[in-house]
Amino acid sequence: MILILLGPPGSGKGTQAKLLVSQSKWPQLSTGDMLRTAISSKSALGIAAKSFMDRGALVPDEVVIGLIQERTKQTDAANGFILDGFPRTIPQAEALDEMLKSQGRSVGRVVLFEIPDLELVDRISGRRTCLKCGAMFHLKSAEPKKSGICDNCGNVLVQRDDDKPEVVRKRLEVYHAQTAPVAGHYTVAGLVRKIDARKSPELVAADLTLALK
Ligand code: AP5
Repeated sequence: MILILLGPPGSGKGTQAKLLVSQSKWPQLSTGDMLRTAISSKSALGIAAKSFMDRGALVPDEVVIGLIQERTKQTDAANGFILDGFPRTIPQAEALDEMLKSQGRSVGRVVLFEIPDLELVDRISGRRTCLKCGAMFHLKSAEPKKSGICDNCGNVLVQRDDDKPEVVRKRLEVYHAQTAPVAGHYTVAGLVRKIDARKSPELVAADLTLALK
């Protein structure tokens, strides 16, 4: 299975991808996580990507396509993977199709997370992330046991730089202009299933399981 989780920032793609990884053999391929790792390591790619991410813009297509090309070649991705945050533009979707075709594979399902923008602002502004293990929490809906501390590894939780309100507004604009059309690219092939991402994480997970059948 090659699964694409598509949806606006904060719609729960990362949360559901992590749940699915724990129940399946597929790894989560998150371009956002890959770029944040590059930023933490202060690599040239990370420094260049940060200037785009901090203002809510997309990182250039060729950079993220290159990251995905390398990652899909790794052995743990041989039997399938979950794409979280990729593809985000039509050229990225076309490059993915070509890349998979050359590997004798194709996208199996695209799940579109639907949720109004207003709810996303609340979700994103309350999100707290562990920079060490990547675990995610929310100040209201998924509180850590000890305030500001990761339940999994005990590291300090932080707010992502691009989760500030003015950047979130820009990310939503970019989503509607550049990423929403990607659903249309896969609708033609009959691959898209829509789910109501306003529900609780448990109910969204159940709907996601149904969408994969
Ligand atoms: P990326 O890291 O991919 O961010 P995103 O797509 O904007 O998505 P988020 O991580 O913000 O949200 P999510 O949908 O995963 O929701 P989550 O599960 O965390 O990208 C960041 C940046 O990197 C981009 O802006 C761009 O610059 C660059 N980039 C990345 N990929 C790129 C690409 N392909 N091309 C170009 N540039 C790229 O949940 C959010 C919060 O809500 C959490 O606190 C969670 O606990 C809570 N929550 C989750 N589900 C529920 C629920 N059902 N009910 C209540 N609360 C919930």
